[in-house]
Amino acid sequence: MKKRELGRLAVSEIGIGCMGFSHGYGQIPNEEYSIEAIRTAFDAGCTFYDTAEVYGAQLYSSGHNERILGKAVREFRDRVVIATKFHFLGNPPDSAAGIETLMRTHLAESMKNLQTDRVELYYLHRIHRAVPIETVAEVMGKFIREGLIGGWGLSQVGVKTIAKAHAVTPLSAVQNLYNMLERDAEKDVIPFCLANRIGFVPFSPVASGFLSGKITPAADFSHPDDVRKFVPQLTKENMAANKPILDLVQTLAEEKDATGAQIALAWILRKSPNIVPIPGSKNRERILENLGAAETRLSDVEFERIESALSAIPVHGHRGQVEFDGDKIEDWGKEE
Ligand SMILES: NC(=O)c1ccc[n+]([C@@H]2O[C@H](COP(=O)([O-])OP(=O)(O)OC[C@H]3O[C@@H](n4cnc5c(N)ncnc54)[C@H](OP(=O)(O)O)[C@@H]3O)[C@@H](O)[C@H]2O)c1
Repeated sequence: MKKRELGRLAVSEIGIGCMGFSHGYGQIPNEEYSIEAIRTAFDAGCTFYDTAEVYGAQLYSSGHNERILGKAVREFRDRVVIATKFHFLGNPPDSAAGIETLMRTHLAESMKNLQTDRVELYYLHRIHRAVPIETVAEVMGKFIREGLIGGWGLSQVGVKTIAKAHAVTPLSAVQNLYNMLERDAEKDVIPFCLANRIGFVPFSPVASGFLSGKITPAADFSHPDDVRKFVPQLTKENMAANKPILDLVQTLAEEKDATGAQIALAWILRKSPNIVPIPGSKNRERILENLGAAETRLSDVEFERIESALSAIPVHGHRGQVEFDGDKIEDWGKEE
């Protein structure tokens, strides 16, 4: 598979999100299956793997997903880029030294889980109003100079935060929600990242499965660890109302002998050269299907057709860009 750059990190142009092997999408597979699925992705050319310390077998138990990934890539560890993330949960320390100590504790825990002494890409999972982003950036700079991490990133942030952080220690990547139904990042985040040599890593690139066309309004999200019951676009009403976007995707898919998920990912790849999507699936065949989107190239005409159609179709249900740990959901998006 072709490579793209996230800052100075070279990765396959499509990565995989590993969250579903541990959390978020209902019943998880057994560990052997998950490990084999990750190895299958590597055999198919994927060199970029996304996880997080909090992706646990039960909500907010930590380390489960990192441990699976660490086992899966052990034989080819030096040929892949691992991205993981940490949170400031609860009440973070109020001194810079306390923040640094806490960040070192999280990084050490992730490294232990991943069986590694270096994390190529280390993200702050969500910003926290009580922790200055400049302090986080300074500590990340130390980690880079000490060889503990290859680069760093932020998740669900706006340009003001990105610019403040980047001025202290240049960012490798920003990981925000982005797909055909959630295009806020096009306004300023993606252009800012492109202009500043920062990679953009869209999470939920197939809109939590909606753009694959395989999830219908009759889908059951009642499993206690199924986040889809909280995704605004996946209410029965919004799924029905957003069908014109699905129809657009499926028409293109039929024309190009591709799948809906592949069209959704090919459109993202075509958007900007600094973008590397990380579709998530706990199913081996779907992982291969998603990686196969690297072969589903859109012509200029096809891309423009999608662009003009999307600009004319209203989107129902929206999540917004900036999220803060420790804030109420109502306050998300109010970036200082
Ligand atoms: N930074 C953050 O805060 C954040 C938040 C959420 C996620 N993430 C990361 O981003 C990754 C991807 O995001 P996501 O998992 O939320 O959303 P996604 O990739 O848009 O969608 C995942 C869902 O879509 C289904 N799916 C994926 N490919 C499919 C296909 N080809 N056909 C049919 N169904 C398909 C999956 O089902 P199956 O598993 O059954 O195939 C799963 O239910 C995660 O794994 C995680 O690493 C980061």
